[in-house]
Amino acid sequence: MSGRLFGVGVGPGDPQLLTLKAASLIRQARHVAYMVNGEGGSMARTIAAGFIAEGAHEIAISMPMRAGPEAVGAAYDAAAARIAGVLDEGRDVVVLCEGDPLFYGSFIYLQARLAGTAAIEIVPGIASPMAGAAALGQPLCARDGTLTVLPATLAEPVLRERIAAADAAVIMKLGRNFAKLRRVLDELGLAEKAGFVERATWPDQRICRLADAPNEPSYFALVIVSKGEGAWT
Ligand SMILES: C[S@@+](CC[C@H](N)C(=O)[O-])C[C@H]1O[C@@H](n2cnc3c(N)ncnc32)[C@H](O)[C@@H]1O
Repeated sequence: MSGRLFGVGVGPGDPQLLTLKAASLIRQARHVAYMVNGEGGSMARTIAAGFIAEGAHEIAISMPMRAGPEAVGAAYDAAAARIAGVLDEGRDVVVLCEGDPLFYGSFIYLQARLAGTAAIEIVPGIASPMAGAAALGQPLCARDGTLTVLPATLAEPVLRERIAAADAAVIMKLGRNFAKLRRVLDELGLAEKAGFVERATWPDQRICRLADAPNEPSYFALVIVSKGEGAWT
């Protein structure tokens, strides 16, 4: 019998924002996997550190994030094969996922590779737009309003068109695309209706108006634009 694969959302940063189910699964896990960045750090592991049992086997999965799609695909293949090896021994594996596993999460690529080989259970987590909205006290949508979620990596004309059409928008993955986003919001006259949130729910969380945001925000940052009631200014 194959082991079970759990994709467990650990929320946006504050360990108190893990669900009871996530905390209990992590505490019981003998095999815990997570993605690590180029510097060897893992946001998901840092968030869940207090719940990982002593002696648990840890599977750190390195992702060459800045590499081309082929290298990234090969890294996911290798990670899936490593996890499959543990599952094949009949052991469960808990994959720690920052925020929610299925919301721009790396778990999506592991799930696609391991579907059909093991039972998969996903435990949702609090996603960063919810944490960001809470930090700003910014309503996301009400009544007939809609919410548009966009990565800032989209081409400038696409970003402009989608933000112009949105009632409210959350823009993620700012990084090197932040200047482009600022330009678009200025052109649309929406800069004053945009709130910036960096490292939501962390002790060093920062919130401010878009105008006061740093030119080079951390990877863990997003912008919320609201044209409706309760817009953050
Ligand atoms: C690959 S996506 C992962 C999203 C994650 N699965 C979630 O549910 O929020 C990474 C992006 O999420 C956003 N993000 C994640 N955690 C955040 C936090 N604590 N504060 C602000 N933005 C965050 C940033 O825009 C970041 O570039």
